[in-house]
Amino acid sequence: AFPHSVRLVEVGPRDGLQNEPEPISTATKLELIDRLGAAGIRHIEAASFVSPKWVPQMADHREVITGLTHRPGVVYSALTPNLKGLEAALECGVEEVAVFGAASEAFSQKNINCSIAESLQRFEPVLERAKAANVRVRGYVSCVLGCPYEGEIEPTKVADVSKALYEMGCYEVSLGDTIGTGTPLKAKRMIEAVSRDIPIEKLAAHFHDTYGQALANLYAVLEEGIAVIDSSVAGLGGCPYAKGASGNVASEDVVYLLDGLRIETGIDLDELAGTGTWITQAIGRPNRSKVGVALAAK
Ligand code: HMG
Ligand code: MG
Repeated sequence: AFPHSVRLVEVGPRDGLQNEPEPISTATKLELIDRLGAAGIRHIEAASFVSPKWVPQMADHREVITGLTHRPGVVYSALTPNLKGLEAALECGVEEVAVFGAASEAFSQKNINCSIAESLQRFEPVLERAKAANVRVRGYVSCVLGCPYEGEIEPTKVADVSKALYEMGCYEVSLGDTIGTGTPLKAKRMIEAVSRDIPIEKLAAHFHDTYGQALANLYAVLEEGIAVIDSSVAGLGGCPYAKGASGNVASEDVVYLLDGLRIETGIDLDELAGTGTWITQAIGRPNRSKVGVALAAK
C-alpha cells in the first residue's frame, strides 16, 4: 500500500552539483540550500567531504556547512566516505553524515578506490566516531539496478551490502539506481529482496533518470511502501564515475506525482519549481524537470 506521507531528501546541492565542471560559488550553493528549505524540504544533502582531487566541485564543503543558515526542522547532511572526511565534517558542526558503498565491486573501486569489503571496514570507524558525536549516519548503496562496468546486479548482492550498512548502525539505507537503467518490476524485486533484512521504513529510493524510468520506478516502489525519496531540484546532476549518467529524478516531478496521489510531502511545489528555474539559470543548465518547465511557462 502507498505510504500516507513521504520524506523527500533533496540531493541537488551535492549529487546535482558535484559533476559540474565549472566552479559554482559557495554563495550560489548556500542560496540554493536556503531556497530549498524555504520551499518546505526537510532534509537537504548539502556537501561532500571527499577528496577535492576526485570531486573538485565539492572542495568548498567546509564553507558550505559552516555557512548554512539553519532553518528549524531542516536536517542538513554531508557525505563522509572515511574518517578524514568525518572529522572535517564534525569540526564544521555537521548534524548528519552519509557513507556510500556499492553493490558492484567494479563501481566501488572506481568511486571510492577500494573493494566492497574494504569499504565496509572503512565505514565501521566512521559509524563509531559519528555515534560518539551523536551524529546520525545514512548509508548509500550504488548500482542497485545495474552497474556501468558489470551490467546486471543481483538483488541478493544489494541486500547483502544494505544489511551490512544497517547492522553497522546506518539509520537509513538509500538504494541508488546510479545509472538509471532500472525498470519497475526490477525495482520492486530489488526492494523485496532488501526489505527481507531491513524494515521498509528504513529504506530510501535514490533513482537517477538516465533512461527516463525514475518516476515509473518510484511509483512501483511506493506501492511496496517506500516512504523516503531522494531527488534533485531541476533534475540536476550526473555521477563522475558513471559515464552518461544523468541527474536524479527531479524533485518537482516527484512532488507533482505525490500531490496527485494525495501523499503528503509538506513541500510547496510552486516555490520548489521557482528554485529549479533560478538554479538552472544561475549555472547555465537546462531545467530537466518537466513539471518545472511547465510551471515556468504558465
Ligand atoms: P584514496 O585515494 O583511496 O584515499 O581515496 P587515501 O586515503 O589514499 O587519500 C588520498 C588523498 O586524498 C590524500 O591526499 C588524502 O589526504 C586525501 P594527498 O596526500 O594525495 O594530498 N583524502 C581526502 N581529502 C579530503 N576529504 C577526504 C579525504 N580522504 C582522503 N575525506 C576517497 C578515497 C574515498 C577519499 C576518494 O576515492 C574520493 O574522494 N572519492 C570521491 C567519490 C565521490 O565523491 N563520488 C561521488 C559521490 S557518490 C555518488 O554520487 C553516488 C550516490 O549518489 C548514490 C548513487 O547515485 O548511486 C551517493
Ligand atoms: Mg546519486
